[in-house]
Amino acid sequence: MRSDDKLPVHIAFIMDGNGRWAKKRLLPRKFGHREGVKTIDRVADDVFGRGIKYLTLFAFSTENWKRPKDEVSGLLALFDNYLTKRLPKLERDGVVLRVIGSERGLNDELRGKIDEAYKRTCGGTKGNLTICFDYGGRADIIGAVNRCVESGVKVDESSFPTFLQTAELPDPDIIVRTGGEHRISNFLLYQMAYSELYFSDTLWPDFTAKELDDILKAYSKTDRRFGGVDEKR
Ligand code: FPP
Repeated sequence: MRSDDKLPVHIAFIMDGNGRWAKKRLLPRKFGHREGVKTIDRVADDVFGRGIKYLTLFAFSTENWKRPKDEVSGLLALFDNYLTKRLPKLERDGVVLRVIGSERGLNDELRGKIDEAYKRTCGGTKGNLTICFDYGGRADIIGAVNRCVESGVKVDESSFPTFLQTAELPDPDIIVRTGGEHRISNFLLYQMAYSELYFSDTLWPDFTAKELDDILKAYSKTDRRFGGVDEKR
């Protein structure tokens, strides 16, 4: 990356491929998720280190409750552990940690940790890390519609997003899906209207800073017209 290359403000990841990473090594899937957390640490440092202000990660979807019980409890434990262990570093680094999604399936202790993480980091100015946990794009839109109806106010394209769970975030400029599948899997459905999409065959635990830089390089060359025309073309 050159320092004058156009940078995104917000990059989001669908972190896919942990299970296959583990399977290739004849390990149980939970080892892949554990390795995936290490990649989160690296990618967060790389993203904020490059001056990108918003990083959003799809960690657990509204559909992931259908996975085997022990995998679900393993993911909940990793999330809990992440909130406990990474909080001091995020606080030191000035990174705001937000969690969006439903909290219905989470116990009180975990809910408390989520609130505490935000309270302790909300003054940060270096970056914004948002973890989507028990998140679904459809559930987000339906929740927003219900809040609009309850408020009794008619909305338009500029006010509707303030009812979404991402109200405090700009729309993602880039969405990256690792793991080789070409689908969106109920991620930020409303917010991605004009996002640039990148699909990588790399399994999430193997995702590197070099690949991030390749994506940023490709993004810096895009001509985003948001439905308009480029007079120079
Ligand atoms: C997809 O891989 C990944 C997930 C469903 C979860 C992503 C979770 C982490 C990176 C760890 C949890 C971290 C926190 C902080 C909550 P997959 O299991 O679908 O992989 P596969 O497609 O190869 O089976």
